Amino acid sequence: MKRFAVLISGRGSNLEAMLLARARGGLFADPVLVISNKSDAPGLAVAQRHGIPTEIVLWSDRESAEQRCLELLHRQSADFIVLAGFMKVLTGGFIDAYCHRILNIHPALLPSFPGVHAQRQALKYGARVTGCTTHFVDAGIDTGPIILQKAVPVLPDDTEETLSARILACEHELVVESVNLFAADCLMIDGDRRVRIDGEKFKRFRAECPARERTVPT
Ligand code: GRF
Repeated sequence: MKRFAVLISGRGSNLEAMLLARARGGLFADPVLVISNKSDAPGLAVAQRHGIPTEIVLWSDRESAEQRCLELLHRQSADFIVLAGFMKVLTGGFIDAYCHRILNIHPALLPSFPGVHAQRQALKYGARVTGCTTHFVDAGIDTGPIILQKAVPVLPDDTEETLSARILACEHELVVESVNLFAADCLMIDGDRRVRIDGEKFKRFRAECPARERTVPT
């Protein structure tokens, strides 16, 4: 089974969604490491509750932080990386080391509303529909080839909080679906950015995955 690492900066709700999916047998890759750039990130406790090794890498110096991450990723033989609420911009050198093997989840329908406070941007802009996106990470800010998207309506009485909560629930589904696509190795990039999903390959992969029952940590 492919092995992956998760980089976080905070709450870790997307991380928890992946680990809960794994506990119920719905995640077909093994999370082997969680790295946080914040020593007080609540997501670290989420990982520890699920028995996933954690590391804190402070980002005071970007180059040395990335070098440390690469050492940790290599030690755990991580095949791919998920950025889940990770708030640092990675350099081209790091991305090249994991070319087309870094996935990010963003709370908007890219290319609309890249960057921070995407939910607030959508509200202020008066968008009727927003959503969430998973994409390959490239050297830009939320500009990599798009893997999956889910649309979320913006309601007349929405606040940033209510909209963010509704989008987050969709993110939790999308990130699990995207990890499983990575695990099946069924994503191809045509030309420079259109992502094609080999559905037949995914079906074969899915059929071979044993439904694993795990105890859900209290
Ligand atoms: C999420 O909306 C995610 O898309 C964004 O940060 C928020 C918090 O994510 N990047 P999490 O709860 O830490 O997974």
